[in-house]
Amino acid sequence: MNTNEQNKVLSQDNLKLTSAKSAFDYILNLYQQQPKNFDNSYIGIGTGSTANFFIDLISKNDDFKRIFKAAICSSNVSEQRLVANNFPIISLTDFHENSPKIFIPFYIDGADEINENLQMIKGGGGALTKEKIVATMSQKFLCLADETKLVNKLGKFPLAVEVLPSAKYLVIQKLNELNELNELNELKNIKIIKITERKNFITDSNNLILDLHFANTFDNQQAMILEQTINNIVGVVENGLFTQHSKAADVLFLATQNGIKNISKE
Ligand code: 5RP
Repeated sequence: MNTNEQNKVLSQDNLKLTSAKSAFDYILNLYQQQPKNFDNSYIGIGTGSTANFFIDLISKNDDFKRIFKAAICSSNVSEQRLVANNFPIISLTDFHENSPKIFIPFYIDGADEINENLQMIKGGGGALTKEKIVATMSQKFLCLADETKLVNKLGKFPLAVEVLPSAKYLVIQKLNELNELNELNELKNIKIIKITERKNFITDSNNLILDLHFANTFDNQQAMILEQTINNIVGVVENGLFTQHSKAADVLFLATQNGIKNISKE
C-alpha cells in the first residue's frame, strides 16, 4: 500500500458498501461449500441505505438469482428496489396456513446502533415491525454496519415505537408512567426524557412512529427488559429493540477504516 492509499479515509457510504460486500461474499462462500443447504431457500432483505447496497449487489449477480427462489422484504421500498432490478420477490402476505414451511437462511439488514452482544436499535427508517418479522422468520440475522454504529451501550439513538393511531394517547401516557415505575423493576435509572411523533410519516401498516429519547444508555439485561416492557403496552405494535428476547444479530460485518471485523455469537 502506498502512502496515499494508507491515508485515504473511507466515507460512511464506502464503509456501508464494504460491509455489504463482505456479507455477500460470506453467503456465496457458504453456498459454494454446501449448495444443498440452500435448496428451496429465500433471502430476507432489510431496509435502509446499507441494505440498499446489498440489494444492488445481489441484483447484479446471477448466482444469487439462482441460489434464492425470491427475496422477502421488510418494506415496500425495498421490494420496489428489487423489482426495479429484476430480482424476484415474494410478500409476507402471500403466505397462508397451508403454505409449505418457508426456509430463509439469512436476513440481511443494517442497524442504527449495535453493541458487542449483537443487540440492536433499529427503526430509523420506520420499518422496524416487518424487519423484526422477517428477521425472526430467518435462521441468521447478518447485520451490516459501518463503525459509527458500534456502541458500548444502546440508548443514545432514539428508540422507534410503532403505535396504532387510535392508541397514541394511551401509549404516551403509559410510557410516561414507566418513568415513575423505575424503582420497582430492573429498569431503574432509565429515564425517557422526551417522546416525539415522527411527522408526516406512516408505516407500511398505516401506523405512526413515536421516538423515545432516553437520558441514559442501558445494559444488555435492561435492553431485553425494555423491549418486552414497551411491547406489553396496549396499542404498541412493536419497538426497535432487537435483543435476545426477540432477535439479536447472529453475525456483524463491521466495516472500519482498517478493514472488516466480523463479530459473531458462535
Ligand atoms: C430501518 C432500519 C435501518 O436498518 C437503520 O435505520 C439503518 O439505516 P441505514 O442503513 O440507512 O444507516 O432499521 O428501519
